Amino acid sequence: MPDNDSIQAGKNYGIGIPQKSDGFFLKGSASLDWGVKNRLAQIFCPKSGNSVMLAFDHGYIMGPTSGLERMDLTIVPLIDYADCIMCTRGALRSIVPPTVRKPLSLRFSAGSTILTDLNDECVMDIDEALRVNATILAVMVAVGDPKHEALTIRNLTKTVDLGMKYSIPAMGVTAVGKELVRDARYLSMASRVCAENGAHVIKTYYCEKDFAQVVNSVPVPIVIAGGKKLPEKEALDMAYRAISDGASGVDMGRNIFQSDSPAAMIQAVREVVHKGAKPEQAYKLYEELKNKK
Ligand code: 5RP
Repeated sequence: MPDNDSIQAGKNYGIGIPQKSDGFFLKGSASLDWGVKNRLAQIFCPKSGNSVMLAFDHGYIMGPTSGLERMDLTIVPLIDYADCIMCTRGALRSIVPPTVRKPLSLRFSAGSTILTDLNDECVMDIDEALRVNATILAVMVAVGDPKHEALTIRNLTKTVDLGMKYSIPAMGVTAVGKELVRDARYLSMASRVCAENGAHVIKTYYCEKDFAQVVNSVPVPIVIAGGKKLPEKEALDMAYRAISDGASGVDMGRNIFQSDSPAAMIQAVREVVHKGAKPEQAYKLYEELKNKK
């Protein structure tokens, strides 16, 4: 309780200095609530506008995939280099040290595996997101999947509604199916559907042709998944082209944790995403770091 006797009348009103009214650095995010913006600003670097998210949620549909057999040994050492981690609640509680000071993209939808019918998913309880301090909720959306399109769009809208009670944003993850072609036309459609249904960030795939069209057809930030493992130089080249076309970062898994040198690779990816390094420069850095011991 302040001491009544020592209260002094205020004098420093900065008369003549207009209060700054800054916009917000992320595309399409200026009208969001303070809490949502604050969470997004933990994920995306306000200076570069971009993010390197480290994805290791693959086990929820694939089981112990290569590079993720022992996440305590392979993933934990990489967390320091990531701007955000993307994982399941199971991985989080079992291997991620609670002392980690990184934002969390929580895998919020689940339900089937590669052995049966992908995308037959439900979403988790919002209380769980609060318990683990989730920064953003990642939900699979299977546009064009005749069996699961409606279900997964409902999962997204439900997640947005639940998350907005607590200012936790949602990331729509565009699924790919056997019948779905990863071209600009499809990826624009799937990404746009996620944004129109309230996703604050979209995770989708890079496509060689017209990726700038995918980015420009969506009013919120897009990050790309890495997809299947490529030679390091090609993966850096893909990241470079995606950023040059307007992506706001990567949410990359296999091309980092299945690399010959995952720590070198994530640092090289950072150079591209945050500093706009050309693929050749980033690859040089990768080689230097890989050979350093
Ligand atoms: C799976 C995912 C993965 O996190 C995503 O595919 C990123 O990993 P990768 O770079 O290995 O493709 O969202 O549903």
